[in-house]
Amino acid sequence: MGGTVALLLAAGSGDRLRRRAKAFVELGGVPMFLRSYRAMAVCGRIDRVVVVVPPDYVELAARWTETGAPIPVAVCRGGSSRQESVELGLRAVADGPDRIVCHDAARPFATPGLYVRVIDALARAQGAVPIISSPDTVKRVRDGLVMETVPRHEVGLVQTPQAFLAEALRDSHRRAAETGFSGTDDAMLLEAAGYEIAAVEGEPSNFKITTPDDLRRGELFLAERGGERAVGAPTGGRREAHR
Ligand code: CTP
Ligand code: MG
Repeated sequence: MGGTVALLLAAGSGDRLRRRAKAFVELGGVPMFLRSYRAMAVCGRIDRVVVVVPPDYVELAARWTETGAPIPVAVCRGGSSRQESVELGLRAVADGPDRIVCHDAARPFATPGLYVRVIDALARAQGAVPIISSPDTVKRVRDGLVMETVPRHEVGLVQTPQAFLAEALRDSHRRAAETGFSGTDDAMLLEAAGYEIAAVEGEPSNFKITTPDDLRRGELFLAERGGERAVGAPTGGRREAHR
């Protein structure tokens, strides 16, 4: 079959936001996960999307995405950790695609261009991640004491979307499951398995919604950007359907 599938990870509980099912919380009147879906749909590199959601949100997510979806989308249930949600998503994808993109619904502002950058970087490595350089001096600290200053050009803050050759991603998840290794992102699992990961330029506006402050920042960002007219804005019908 070939092609590229995106796993949209939306199964988190949103504890720090103090809301249930964070990915379904609205930003500018649109559930967070739909903003990512629409950027995926217009980037021109992604053939279909699997949205991974909390078990009791499968029906709601399916209703949101079934009518007039610009690219095919399926919904599956996630697990109790992000890594488990990716594993369940991989099962739902089944065999077939050459490339798999993993993206956190908690980052609703990744641009279509960023998806293109990470996917195209797979020409030079088995995985690719967006990196933001640190504006501050970085130090390694242990037990309250500074150990050393880490050269700033050698460190970066990692975002999603992360793109992978499908076989490398599956192999890395299989190995992690066998050894009980857990990582906070998928690239960590590939690193542990010895694969190469390319770094591409991240986006400062691709920040993660974690706390209520982040949600306010997101609303401000949309207001400054012109909100509803931007990518990720809802079509009237679907927005009404949710209400
Ligand atoms: N995620 C997931 N399945 C889980 C946990 C997390 O799919 N069991 C997803 C979230 O939906 C989110 C991304 O992984 O898009 C990053 O997780 P995080 O920002 O920690 O979201 P939550 O786990 O929802 O938030 P919290 O940790 O505050 O509960
Ligand atoms: Mg979490």
